[in-house]
Amino acid sequence: MTTKLAASFVALAMLASVARAQPAVSLLIDNGYPSTGSLNIASVLSQVSTKKGQAFHFGSTYDTYDANQSWFTSVFTTFYRHVVSENGCKWDATEPSQGVSDLTECLACQKFATTNGATFRGHNTFWHSQTPTWLPGSFTAAQITGTIIPQHVQAEVQGMGTSVTSWDVVNEVVGDGVSNGMTPLQCVQNKGDWPTVTADGSGKPLIGDLSFIYAAFNTAFQYAGNSTRLAINEYNTGGQDAKTACIISLVQNIQQNTNVPANRLAVGFQSHLTASTGGFYTKSALATTFSTLAALGIESMITELDVSLNSNSQANLRYQAAIWGDYLDACLYASNCNEFINWDPRDDLSWRGASAAATLFDASGNPKLAAYEVAARLQNYAAGNAEPCATASGTGVCTITGTGGGTTSSSGTGSGSTTTVKSTTSSTATGGSTGCVSAEWGQCGGMGWTGCTACASGTTCKVSNAYYSQCLP
Ligand code: G3I
Repeated sequence: MTTKLAASFVALAMLASVARAQPAVSLLIDNGYPSTGSLNIASVLSQVSTKKGQAFHFGSTYDTYDANQSWFTSVFTTFYRHVVSENGCKWDATEPSQGVSDLTECLACQKFATTNGATFRGHNTFWHSQTPTWLPGSFTAAQITGTIIPQHVQAEVQGMGTSVTSWDVVNEVVGDGVSNGMTPLQCVQNKGDWPTVTADGSGKPLIGDLSFIYAAFNTAFQYAGNSTRLAINEYNTGGQDAKTACIISLVQNIQQNTNVPANRLAVGFQSHLTASTGGFYTKSALATTFSTLAALGIESMITELDVSLNSNSQANLRYQAAIWGDYLDACLYASNCNEFINWDPRDDLSWRGASAAATLFDASGNPKLAAYEVAARLQNYAAGNAEPCATASGTGVCTITGTGGGTTSSSGTGSGSTTTVKSTTSSTATGGSTGCVSAEWGQCGGMGWTGCTACASGTTCKVSNAYYSQCLP
């Protein structure tokens, strides 16, 4: 083959791989669970809690100024039983001027939850973004750690009461350029945001340690309810990558340097995903991270799940349903995951834009395939059925078969069983993650990787970044 022809062949192959359609996926709703009609999962959620042995909180965001308030009353409350204010509990809303607490919107969101028999979580007491106009100001490190943060966290946590299931005490403090082996302080310094540095863009150091994080957690612990979980919340985390490693070491550092015991700590995995290769963590990667935290006695939470699509095709909607189902199953079947939050309840309200179609309900407030698949996964778990295999890996790796038949009638008394047949994992790189090895220099992990995670002898799987791990000598 001439060089030119070979080059064009390679180019075509690369284009084809980029343009590759979403994988064919197998879903519970292909096996007898409803994929049309009205959804009411209120009672199946209580069956899930019974199965879990503790409350399982499944919810989404709300603010009183959201459009379609009637939809929230008629539909939201039958599907989501847990509420988080999308913006109303953030610093700019809750302390508009220094020392003046204004919990109006945050309390109104909590009231919407309790009026409708739902629970409520707080987001968030500390974030470098959406701060009020008087912050960051020119406060010193001592003022920030000694007064500003404790005053704010106390006012908010105390003001919202002890029924809040969990708080995102600290939000998005770990950098995106971290690497394996960094200390918790290096992970946070890598972010380069206030109050590690001043907020004037000069990058001038301000707080050279983690005292500001400790202050937030100690204050939240002092004023929160006895069973309220206190979380660090982060995006682009959940697998075996450097940023997730940072979060895990940071939460342990918080435990060692504050009054907060492990059984009150949590890690929130925001999970703003994309339905494409590398746009999400595999179920096995998530499960591994959850079990790492379980061994430490620390809770895991999915706190802001949405899955954007590059088009509203049926294949994409099915792929979205498979990804959502895997994330939900990873949480349901984990011993330490009991909060599962979907960020924005419908596409027209999504921060990712309606065209991203990133939520469970479309722009008219109708349930999408992913909503039905979520209901089916909840039914499947509540019925004590086997854990489905990783559907987002595609039918080449995971096929669900069985009679299914769960119903999500208004009584929500889902029944029916589904037999999940984990297909034999293939030994090719595109096949299952077990029973095969990647050669030296081959990929062995990363967001969305469904190939082999073991490496040929003499090589080990090293994380290059969140999306790529490689078998290196
Ligand atoms: O309330 C004002 C309104 O008065 C004004 O007219 C309007 C026009 O500027 O802005 C309104 O505030 C907007 C606010 O949402 C409420 O709608 C802000 O501009 C807008 O920036 C803000 O966006 C929020 C974003 O956080 C801010 O960073 C999104 O709704 C919210 O979904 C998003 O949520 C974050 C989580 O808190 C943390 N994790 C990432 C996630 C997505 O960014």
